[in-house]
Amino acid sequence: MPNLNIKNGNLIFGGCDTTWLAKEFGTPLYVISEEIVKDRCREIRDEFLFKYQNTRAAYASKAFLNLAMCKIVEREGLDLDVVSGGEIYTAIKANFPMERVFFHGNNKAIEELELAINNDVGRIVVDNIWEIELINKIAKEHGKKVKVLFRITPGVEIDTHKYISTGQKDSKFGIPLTENVIFEAVKKGIKYENIELMGFHFHVGSQLFSNESHIGAVERVMVLIKEIKDRFGFVTRELNTGGGYGIYYTHGDDPKPLSYFTDAIMEKIYKKCDELILDIPTVIIEPGRWVIGEAGITLYTIGSIKEIPDIRTYVSVDGGIPDNPRPALYGAKYDAVIANKADEEKNKVVTISGKCCETGDILIWNLKVPEVESGDILAVFSTGAYNYSMSNNYNRIPRPAVVLVNEGNAEIIVERETYDDLIRKDRVPEYLR
Ligand code: LLP
Repeated sequence: MPNLNIKNGNLIFGGCDTTWLAKEFGTPLYVISEEIVKDRCREIRDEFLFKYQNTRAAYASKAFLNLAMCKIVEREGLDLDVVSGGEIYTAIKANFPMERVFFHGNNKAIEELELAINNDVGRIVVDNIWEIELINKIAKEHGKKVKVLFRITPGVEIDTHKYISTGQKDSKFGIPLTENVIFEAVKKGIKYENIELMGFHFHVGSQLFSNESHIGAVERVMVLIKEIKDRFGFVTRELNTGGGYGIYYTHGDDPKPLSYFTDAIMEKIYKKCDELILDIPTVIIEPGRWVIGEAGITLYTIGSIKEIPDIRTYVSVDGGIPDNPRPALYGAKYDAVIANKADEEKNKVVTISGKCCETGDILIWNLKVPEVESGDILAVFSTGAYNYSMSNNYNRIPRPAVVLVNEGNAEIIVERETYDDLIRKDRVPEYLR
């Protein structure tokens, strides 16, 4: 793990002693290393944006978003991919340049589209034919012309959990490459006055270690671009190739450098453009997990320890499904250490359980640990992506705080929820009072 070391037996992350962070800010606690995020953004600039002309990189904000993250993304020169009114609103409130925002979603609400269009979001990524009509109508009402990409489903199968696989034909996302559907959509995109069709988008899936499905999708979309040029004389100016680059969670994961994906994507695009005599479009990538995943850890305090002789030892922490639903949802695996015993020999195997009233609330099965005691601090790695952003209040448990660490400095970027936050929206009808 980058940005990690051990001092006096304690785990240090982003230059901060994690046991001090736990004491100072309480647990559970999400900790994000600004340096790791910046390193990833630098790699995107060096290996993609600066290396290839006419390229853009949008951070997929569904992985982790708040005002501070918007600021980091903006400063690092990335664009922003959003999928909801809430994400758009966050970007607006952070003064993120809205022309650098891509708005996705398979069922954008009218009010979300109005928010996007009124705030001049850079691109709307149209997910289906129904939406084309709607965007054109709303844009007309507001006297705007909206630049759009069409999301297509390239029809490639991928090797990941089926819940995060999106490129196959039978998907709720995108316009299928069935002749009468895609050409009908393109015709509308060209014809409608309040829409400017800029090009196409695909996203094949998430947490991938192979570039094969990206390459397969590029192959198909380039053939589409050629056919559309021949049929309608339409020149595709932009191609958004989505995200999906995998990260390290636990042994067995085989993450690749960014260039493993981006070089292969660019090489394929150049080759196909040459072969099919096409102009090279602006190429966009959209990584989320790859930017933020390994930049985050979660700290918990260990509470009850239950030993079932000859079966297993359950070590319970003060969080679980509410701060990290991924193990319960996808069978996701994580690695962790006891932060205050980081250099001790691991001679026991325990199961880390959450505190929810739910049998499936197990964070890690069979984790190797040293002698563990109640009050120890557990640090779970690679929790930066889809943890805070998927957190919830199951069992009325308040969401943890998020702390940004950098070279020994620690700043709260999201406050811990309080019990009052939990009842803030509750209302009691008169007759029940
Ligand atoms: N672009 C689009 C259109 C997407 O739908 C996604 C992710 C991304 C980019 C970013 O993908 P990434 O680079 O992060 O793999 N909650 C799941 C992941 C869902 C991903 C949804 N779309 C999880 O926790 O694994």
